[in-house]
Amino acid sequence: MADETSRESTGATLSNLSTENRTFAPSEEFAAQANATADWYDRASADREAFWAEQAERLHWEQKWERVLDWDAPFAKWFVGGKLNVAYNCVDRHVEAGHGEQVAFHWEGEPGDTRTITYSDLQREVCKAANALVELGVGEGDRVAIQLPMIPEAVFSMLACARLGAMHSVVFGGFSPGALKARIEDAEAKLLITSDGQYRRGKPAPMKANTDEATAETPTIEHVLVVKRTEIDVPWTEGRDVWWHDVVDRQSDQHAAEAFDSEQPLYILYTSGTTGKPKGILHTAGGYLTQCAYTHNVVFDHKPGESVYWCTADIGWVTGHSYIVYGPLANRATSVMYEGTPNTPHEGRHWEIIQKYGVSIYYTAPTLIRTFMKWGSDIPAKYDLSSLRVLGSVGEPINPEAWMWYREHIGRDNCPIVDTWWQTETGAIMISPLPGVTAAKPGSAMRPLPGISAEIVTEEAQPVGPGGGGYLVLDKPWPSMLRGIWGDEERYRDTYWSRFADQGYYFAGDGAKYDDDGAIWLLGRVDDVMNVSGHRISTTEVESALVSHPTVAEAAVVGASDATTGQGIVAFVILRGNVAQDEAKGEEAIKALRDHVSKEIGPIAKPRQIMVVDELPKTRSGKIMRRLLRDVAENREVGDVTTLADSSVMDLISAGMQDSS
Ligand code: WT7
Repeated sequence: MADETSRESTGATLSNLSTENRTFAPSEEFAAQANATADWYDRASADREAFWAEQAERLHWEQKWERVLDWDAPFAKWFVGGKLNVAYNCVDRHVEAGHGEQVAFHWEGEPGDTRTITYSDLQREVCKAANALVELGVGEGDRVAIQLPMIPEAVFSMLACARLGAMHSVVFGGFSPGALKARIEDAEAKLLITSDGQYRRGKPAPMKANTDEATAETPTIEHVLVVKRTEIDVPWTEGRDVWWHDVVDRQSDQHAAEAFDSEQPLYILYTSGTTGKPKGILHTAGGYLTQCAYTHNVVFDHKPGESVYWCTADIGWVTGHSYIVYGPLANRATSVMYEGTPNTPHEGRHWEIIQKYGVSIYYTAPTLIRTFMKWGSDIPAKYDLSSLRVLGSVGEPINPEAWMWYREHIGRDNCPIVDTWWQTETGAIMISPLPGVTAAKPGSAMRPLPGISAEIVTEEAQPVGPGGGGYLVLDKPWPSMLRGIWGDEERYRDTYWSRFADQGYYFAGDGAKYDDDGAIWLLGRVDDVMNVSGHRISTTEVESALVSHPTVAEAAVVGASDATTGQGIVAFVILRGNVAQDEAKGEEAIKALRDHVSKEIGPIAKPRQIMVVDELPKTRSGKIMRRLLRDVAENREVGDVTTLADSSVMDLISAGMQDSS
């Protein structure tokens, strides 16, 4: 929840925000051929349900819905009574329509190996995987955990689950065994799909060895299905573990897809909240796929059979779910899927791939754009990027400087940029320019898409006018909205719907402001959730990891602004009394602590900096005042300390910070 601490930080960001007046309208040529036109906004607001019904017609429904929406706040049902199969929509219907030979994925492995997967190939692979899952005991409503690198089997596995009406729970490959275990337990997953290893910066790293640690005490897991990717040695549990090539390859490539209810659960995806326990965000079939398909079509101006589309996200995040798998495949996209890191084996890898496949739509994250900036514009300059038509950004606010660099050095001043705001919970893009319509401003997500309604309101739920700032809320339900938190209805109500309960608004957790023209500027989280390279990590999660180390008594974590990653994790720790203080403050001990967090949660959660302190700044009621720590971490003058129980604490911390820097 946004407490006193966070409100002040939003205020500070608001006043710091630069005023950006440049606008970049699409060329006449682009506008003339765009999928969506300006009149869509009015058409959608005139009759929202009719508008969404029209979007749902993008899909094949085995049985048409009776009502577009049942809204019993905060529970929505979309396309009520409709039946469809998500995998059929993403794969089979394109083959049946004669597009079996179209490439679905140009897959590029990190070591340089490649695979070309057509829609017919995809259909066969998904059917075989579905048959294998049935043989392994998976049926409708079961949960399947997936921890895989960026290989085609990740897509096959997700679609096989969807085909069977089973739910997947994909866990990012960089997450620790502990994180995987917690997710398996919470979802009571029956099957885990993983790989022997994964390529990381040119070297094979173990995967199965880690997942074995996770599944050592997870009684619900009946089988582990293992894809061979690296030939690395693996521990093996006879009877439980099976190889993909043994079990999947011998299956029939025919499988009849059954149509499920529009509200059939499709997947759970865990995301960080304000407490240490991740939330299992639940998405369902019909509304989710409708909004993924709609947004992928209009925001990226995707042309089936013509565009070559590349979303650089990992399948372990919602961006990978909605914009590598479901949206693009529903729209019969030809996509690039890349396994590796952007600088393996060299810093031009992305541009080389764009040139090689003639990528026309490129969708990435600000943190990566800033990294590319750091590497230098001479690198992309060496490649032919003339195939690019639309550039996308997601994950965190994109600063105007990075936006301009992206436009100039990647888009060669010729591509609309779409800065897309959304969340794991929203399932699909909510606020974004339309590339053929919007005169975009560098750094602004502009306005809600046709069919979507958002507002910026004060603490008292009053709408702020042009120029005003406050909390971003979604005031009307949308098709791809989360249907709940897995197994925790109360937390669902509490987290998203209690803050503006009287108004029935969804509270997104972000601060935002309107400029004088009514364009929306996102300002970052207002709760204790950090955004590191576009990934959500809660301060509490990192704090609990730190205090689980034998030398740490107490920890406070803040997200400090970072030129490359958006925010960097800065931790303040108090050591236990019995620990030899000098040793535990030493470089090696700090490194051990950072590694400990990395091991507990995953490398993305590794603190940038750890400060050993004697006290933490607390209010009289014992609440840690993070804004003061953030002031220290960002080298600012420390703000108002009058509510501190002991106001001298901050002097000590600031002095310590100067010593160590
Ligand atoms: C949070 C959601 C949506 C996929 C990736 C992250 C921040 C996301 C933007 C943007 C400003 C953004 C918000 C949001 N965020 N996109 N274009 N501009 N902020 O998904 O992990 O669920 O995180 O990411 O703070 O609440 P997620």
